[in-house]
Amino acid sequence: MEIFIDTVEVSEVKEAVSWGVVSGVTTNPKLVSSLKGKISLKDKILEIIKLCDGPISVEVTSDDFDGMVTEAKRYSSWHSNIVIKIPMGIEGLKAVKVLERDCDIRTNVTAIMASNQAVLAALAGATYISIFFARIGDMGYDATDVISTIAGLLKTSNLKAKIISGSIRHLMDINRSFEAGADIVTVPFNFLKQMSQNPRTTETISEFNNLWKGMKEKGLLSSD
Ligand code: E4P
Repeated sequence: MEIFIDTVEVSEVKEAVSWGVVSGVTTNPKLVSSLKGKISLKDKILEIIKLCDGPISVEVTSDDFDGMVTEAKRYSSWHSNIVIKIPMGIEGLKAVKVLERDCDIRTNVTAIMASNQAVLAALAGATYISIFFARIGDMGYDATDVISTIAGLLKTSNLKAKIISGSIRHLMDINRSFEAGADIVTVPFNFLKQMSQNPRTTETISEFNNLWKGMKEKGLLSSD
C-alpha cells in the first residue's frame, strides 16, 4: 500500500512529504494548467523531484505514437525518477511497448475507465495503470468493482503493473480504492489533510490535555 500526491504545487509536496506518508507524485496537464503565469514544466518537475525521492509522473500531450515517444524521451532525460504518463489508446499502447522494452523508460497508462483497457495496458508492459475512480462513478459504474476485477486479473496472470487509483473526490474514494485492491492511491493535498483528522480524535486529545493542565494548575504534578 502506497500513497502518492496528485499535485503540481511544490508547497503541497513539501508539506506532505514531511509527514512521511507520501512516496510519489502524479501530475497531469489539467493540474499544470491551474498554475498561475508563465511556467517551465521542467523547472517545476525538477523542484518537485528535489522534495520527493520517488516516482514522479509527467504526462505526454501528443496523440500519436511518434509524438508520445519523442515527448517521453525528453521528459525522462530530466531525471531518472520520472515516469511517463501515457494516455490509454492504441497509439499509447504502442508507445508503452517501445518505451518500456526498448528505452528502459517507466510508463503510467492513464485515464483507464474499464478492466479491458487495464488488461491491454498491463500486457503492453506498463509499470503503472491509473484507474480514474470518480470519473468511473460519473458514468454510473462502481469503480471498486473495476479495481477489484483488475487486481484479480493482474494477480492470476502474474503481470507486473501496479494499480494507481486516481480521480479522488471524496475521502471514501481512498478507503474504497485500497479495499478493492489498489496498490497506490494518488490523493489531492486537501484529502490527505482530511485523512489525518477526526472530530472525536480532536475531542479526545483535548479532554486528556485539559485534565493534565488541571493537575498542573492544582500543583498535583511533581516537577521531575
Ligand atoms: C491522476 O493520475 C489523475 O491525473 C487525476 O487524479 C485525475 O483527477 P480528476 O478526475 O479529478 O481530473
